[in-house]
Amino acid sequence: MADIQKTLVLVKPDGVKKHICGEVISRFERKGLSIHAIKMINVPVELAEEHYAEHKGKGFFKALIDFITSGPVLAMVIEGENAVAAVRQINGATNPLEAVPGSIRGDFATSIDENVVHASDAPETAAREIALWFPELKK
Ligand code: TYD
Ligand code: MG
Repeated sequence: MADIQKTLVLVKPDGVKKHICGEVISRFERKGLSIHAIKMINVPVELAEEHYAEHKGKGFFKALIDFITSGPVLAMVIEGENAVAAVRQINGATNPLEAVPGSIRGDFATSIDENVVHASDAPETAAREIALWFPELKK
């Protein structure tokens, strides 16, 4: 049985500055995934801290919040079969040194703190993140 899922994807400020939003979207569409919702957003600090709440207290937390709030972000809900895992695979490993060539991070990211894209890591996380970034989608 097909497992149609939704997942939250961000093109982070470095990706927007590199003008690769279209490239990122193309990679998801080529794999048969659909855009369910999409918008450009200047990220409020409160949203950034809530989004990355699991990393609060870690050494890189402040730099992460400063980075994600440093410029516009493209936020989207991507939908399709096994979308959560499929998008994580297309994005590639968190550390660009471990991200294989052909993945978005493998092709475009140079450092772990500026790695172009975000994607939810599990269906439960996706539900939380979609509600956080797209409250207007709630019925
Ligand atoms: P994480 O949730 O572990 O990775 P992913 O984005 O693949 O889900 O970490 C969130 C972000 O935090 C990651 O994309 C980049 C940043 N980060 C660092 O800057 N340094 C680190 O050592 C780690 C683990 C993450
Ligand atoms: Mg994560």
